Amino acid sequence: MQYRILGRTGLKVSEIGFGCGNNAVLMVRATHEKQLEAVRRALELGINYFDTAFAYGLGKSEENLGNILKELGASPVVSTKIRLEPEAAANFESATMRAVEEGLKRLQRRYVDLIQLHNRVTVERGPGKRFSLTPGDVLGPGGVLEGFKELRSQGQVGYFGFSGLGDPKALHEVIDSGEFHSVQAYYNLLNPSGGQPVPQGFSALDYGRLVDRAAAKGMGIAVIRVLAAGALTATPEAGGGSSPEPLSPGSDYALDLERAAKVKFLIGGGMESLTQAAIRFALMKPEVSTVLVGFSNTAHIDEAVVCSGAGGLSEEAMARLRRLWDTDFGTLNP
Ligand SMILES: NC(=O)c1ccc[n+]([C@@H]2O[C@H](COP(=O)([O-])OP(=O)(O)OC[C@H]3O[C@@H](n4cnc5c(N)ncnc54)[C@H](OP(=O)(O)O)[C@@H]3O)[C@@H](O)[C@H]2O)c1
Repeated sequence: MQYRILGRTGLKVSEIGFGCGNNAVLMVRATHEKQLEAVRRALELGINYFDTAFAYGLGKSEENLGNILKELGASPVVSTKIRLEPEAAANFESATMRAVEEGLKRLQRRYVDLIQLHNRVTVERGPGKRFSLTPGDVLGPGGVLEGFKELRSQGQVGYFGFSGLGDPKALHEVIDSGEFHSVQAYYNLLNPSGGQPVPQGFSALDYGRLVDRAAAKGMGIAVIRVLAAGALTATPEAGGGSSPEPLSPGSDYALDLERAAKVKFLIGGGMESLTQAAIRFALMKPEVSTVLVGFSNTAHIDEAVVCSGAGGLSEEAMARLRRLWDTDFGTLNP
């Protein structure tokens, strides 16, 4: 396993991170034995970054991870996330503090290395189930950031991050504030716009080089959805994510399966699988600190870990990919 530095936090994190999310339900629903086996295997292989959230099984993932790390006596870098509900709008700062304190209890810790806002950040506040916050809600007086800062002054959190999902304009505003230490960036072979140029009319959401923008502010970058929720694997029929709505606009699973069929040329010549090509592509970008993979079993961990240090895609493969992106996978005139 190779390690990178998570932006200006200075934390040394493994190139492959353990995603304890909802999609690969391992840390939410698998048996204790299976979870223990997976976490033990990951630690043995050098994974030292675990990403969880309240939203993953309404606290189950945090509880399970907390229990297992305690049982193993392990202390890797742990990042978790809070999801605020519409009622939090009465006072985002205090709602943030309460949510983090509850998360710490579930994790059985007094301190967490990285705390992140899970809600999307949008130009307008989003309603109901998909409650999203504006940059003002995050950065302004009585906002989320002030809650995070207060928690840091009390020694309960180390660094602050947010999910790079929502409106790119609003996300860029939060990045440009320079107040956050890390972002979880949507970046994969099927929507590389977080870190590669894409043309006008590209059918997946254009994140406007969010990865580069965040890195320029000294932020650490954790890649999410590197396997497009399973579309970029040898067994795509098993994947598809836990939500009927796509995580990122224009990237629903059926469309991603069509796009994934067009990048299968990456397999061969030393590249054993699409999964490995997808992870090695993300790791090619030096601005990326870690690639979070949603593991469903220990074989998935083994397959991801071999990508660290294995090198990137060839120049020829990258040129073919650029042609695909420039034509939106063959649907736009170049
Ligand atoms: N901040 C946010 O809002 C946010 C959003 C999404 C993700 N994340 C983070 O990123 C992590 C990863 O994201 P993700 O799970 O959504 O997407 P992902 O890593 O793109 O996809 C994970 C899925 O790919 C399949 N898979 C993994 N390794 C495989 C292998 N070697 N061979 C075949 N299939 C394989 C599994 O499908 P099966 O389960 O069907 O086997 C798994 O559920 C999450 O756990 C979370 O920590 C954060």
